Amino acid sequence: MDCIRFGIVGAVGRGNSYVRSLLAHPSTEITALCDVRLEEAQRAAAELGVEHVFGSMDALLEAAVVDAVVIGTPMQFHAPQAMAALARDIHVLCEVTAGVSIEECRDLVCAARRSSAQYMMAENYAYMKQNVLVRALVEQGLFGEVYYGEGAYIHELKGLNEQTPWRRRWQTGVNGSTYPTHSLGPVLQWFGGQRVTAVCAMGTGHHYRDPRGDHYEMEDSVTMMCRMSGGGLVQIRVDMLSERPHNATHYALQGTDGCYESGDGFRGEARIWLRSRSRTHQWEALSELEAFLPDYWKNPPQEALRAGHGGGDWWEVQDFIDSIREDRPAPIGIDAAMDMTLPGLASQTSIAQGGTWVAVPDPRNWT
Ligand SMILES: NC(=O)c1ccc[n+]([C@@H]2O[C@H](COP(=O)([O-])OP(=O)(O)OC[C@H]3O[C@@H](n4cnc5c(N)ncnc54)[C@H](O)[C@@H]3O)[C@@H](O)[C@H]2O)c1
Repeated sequence: MDCIRFGIVGAVGRGNSYVRSLLAHPSTEITALCDVRLEEAQRAAAELGVEHVFGSMDALLEAAVVDAVVIGTPMQFHAPQAMAALARDIHVLCEVTAGVSIEECRDLVCAARRSSAQYMMAENYAYMKQNVLVRALVEQGLFGEVYYGEGAYIHELKGLNEQTPWRRRWQTGVNGSTYPTHSLGPVLQWFGGQRVTAVCAMGTGHHYRDPRGDHYEMEDSVTMMCRMSGGGLVQIRVDMLSERPHNATHYALQGTDGCYESGDGFRGEARIWLRSRSRTHQWEALSELEAFLPDYWKNPPQEALRAGHGGGDWWEVQDFIDSIREDRPAPIGIDAAMDMTLPGLASQTSIAQGGTWVAVPDPRNWT
């Protein structure tokens, strides 16, 4: 495949943020935009010189003008739209989360296994520089045995819930850890190869109402404890309602030979202790260890530095395209996508049962 023809679904919303990184890759072209807001999609296509515009995913697939799609639609469409593309052996890069129920996730896994095309979940936080660096250090064994992790997505979104009502239904309209992948995704990679086997979720109760006077079904702050397959523990907090400044990138990690605490994006610098560098338990700045970064993050192009989510939006696209071109498994393929998504779905049962431990299915058993 000399040039991969891409279609962007949900092109007027989040899908738009993929345009620059897709156009920059020498092996891709954007041949189609798709959005139910057809007129806006047509205007965007005219500006970009994109040939085809569609008002539905079905019409896009029927036209057979793409080899791959980026799906940037609301969460409830991710699994059905990904399955429709995979059924036609069209590669899929899909926004988070992979699905909104365990049942549709199972169907998606089966569709991905049947397809000759690649499926990747677009977990961009896994490509942020600091998260990539911590992963590199873990993979060099510098943390020893990793046994505790933390992640938090604290991002007050009550106003955005009104502008994008699907959020009010699928993110704050459900109780549990409804949007955990930005936090759990990088931490899972640091636990290399382990998955979450069981979750226990609890919330803080309800302190806010929407403009109609209704409580959000999701409790204001939900914490999900994750039992790891290696015996360790990961704690994930999702809070999209509390009145406060954002901190969507809180992480921590503990191993037998090192520990890490992310900065809060405001003055605080990410800090790390590694036994191999300091016998006396002294913190040092994570930035001191940038020599350990993988090559692609050592000399990033300006476009990557300008891209959203700390460059994550850029690198996830490049990695996806390269995996298609090199015919290697997508970096966050179907099993990894499920490992990041299913714990949150299982947490809905846990929280409904008062915080009991609930088993998380292993997608590798789904064929
Ligand atoms: N990874 C990230 O950092 C990140 C950031 C923002 C949003 N997101 C994800 O991206 C997705 C979209 O979020 P958003 O804020 O852009 O939402 P949005 O509602 O603003 O945009 C979604 C777009 O999809 C279009 N759309 C809706 N239904 C469609 C359908 N059936 N077929 C085709 N197009 C359809 C809408 O018209 C809109 O243009 C969500 O899943 C969200 O979780 C991820």
